[in-house]
Amino acid sequence: MRRPASSAARGAARGLLAVLLALALVGCAEEPEGIRLRFLDRPDEGGAWAEILSRFEERHPEIDVELVEGPTSTDTREGMYATTFLSGEATYDIVYMDVIWVPRFADRGWLLPLDDRFPEAEREAFLPGDVAGSVFEGSVYRVPLRADAGVLFYRSDLIEEPPETFAELVRLCERHQDPPDRHGFLFQGQQYEGLVCSFLEVLWGHGGRVLDRDGRVVLDGPEGHAALDWLVDLVGRVTPEAVTTYQEEESRHVFHEGRALFLRNWPYVWSKAQAADSPVRGKVGIAPMVHAPGGESSAALGGWGFGIASSCPHPDAAWRFIEFATSAEAMRILNERNGAIPARRALYRDPELLRRHPHYSQLYEVLLRSRPRPVHPRYAEISDAIQMHVSAALVGEETPDEAIERAGDQIRGILDR
Ligand code: GLC
Repeated sequence: MRRPASSAARGAARGLLAVLLALALVGCAEEPEGIRLRFLDRPDEGGAWAEILSRFEERHPEIDVELVEGPTSTDTREGMYATTFLSGEATYDIVYMDVIWVPRFADRGWLLPLDDRFPEAEREAFLPGDVAGSVFEGSVYRVPLRADAGVLFYRSDLIEEPPETFAELVRLCERHQDPPDRHGFLFQGQQYEGLVCSFLEVLWGHGGRVLDRDGRVVLDGPEGHAALDWLVDLVGRVTPEAVTTYQEEESRHVFHEGRALFLRNWPYVWSKAQAADSPVRGKVGIAPMVHAPGGESSAALGGWGFGIASSCPHPDAAWRFIEFATSAEAMRILNERNGAIPARRALYRDPELLRRHPHYSQLYEVLLRSRPRPVHPRYAEISDAIQMHVSAALVGEETPDEAIERAGDQIRGILDR
């Protein structure tokens, strides 16, 4: 049986507690006044973040910013941010966001509105699509850093003129391919967000859409059927079966090794292709994505930028970092170290950047015309429906007709809920 503690013992314990408390307080007072902020991104390949963070910390030694290196796919990182916000943990103070996450994160109240810190006059310095994609219900939640738009890379040493139509692309592949040494056309075919981008560019190029202007689902109209038919028909003909395992980097590697004629990807690929040790250095051209005859080329608007988590205890410090990380200086570092395309318009007139990347003036036009994926707080679910069924069609589990009908119905269900 436990006996109650004597009053002398209780007194000694209280004394000890007081001493420990005093020591703890002294400890706190002596601790340097540091602020630590965290954000999540993919691994820091090329060391761009390391350089940006060290330059920032030199100027702001009181603020320590930490990059948490996560998985490469945007979907998985979105899930990681969402999980911590849902559980109320303040794991991430700064949110490095794909443009497609903004409506959901803002609608859920996970982000601080930045209207006062990032007023309209300052937004004009950035590409208009990136700004539009940072706004939700009239408030801005993200400062753009890295712009993105889907483009078609081609082997300029083998292909004289890049194709304009879907049929021309296939014809050129059939004429010049030599699989498995040299495939025709590569895209991102794994079941994840990149597949949605690849598919939407084909859908738009066929004149189709996911939602019409009134928000009704029209994905499974005739254009949707034609688009998925076209994509599925490529596999095993001009596109390797392994495409269903490709994210951006897997598809880039095959192209980089000189084993494909065409690649749909984001503009970062170009800088890597021009690296001194690249097997395709000087042999790569960039063109807008192909389209149906009489239709127009469409690029998916991608891109990344920074917001502040509502749970962040130091929003002013977070803002100081965001100001620096979205400056022209930081954009140049990201550009140089991993080919990221800047979101500030002025850099597309920068003589130094244009000298190193002569195609930037053409790319600028593609960026201006790029199209957003459906802008909706439930976009992640809409995307899941597209991913699931387009992928099922690519691997032959559903016919293209079944897949497009099912995706359409599933999205109707999501929007009706
Ligand atoms: C790129 C784009 C992003 C897109 C992702 C898909 O990172 O910038 O917007 O969602 O690719 O994989």
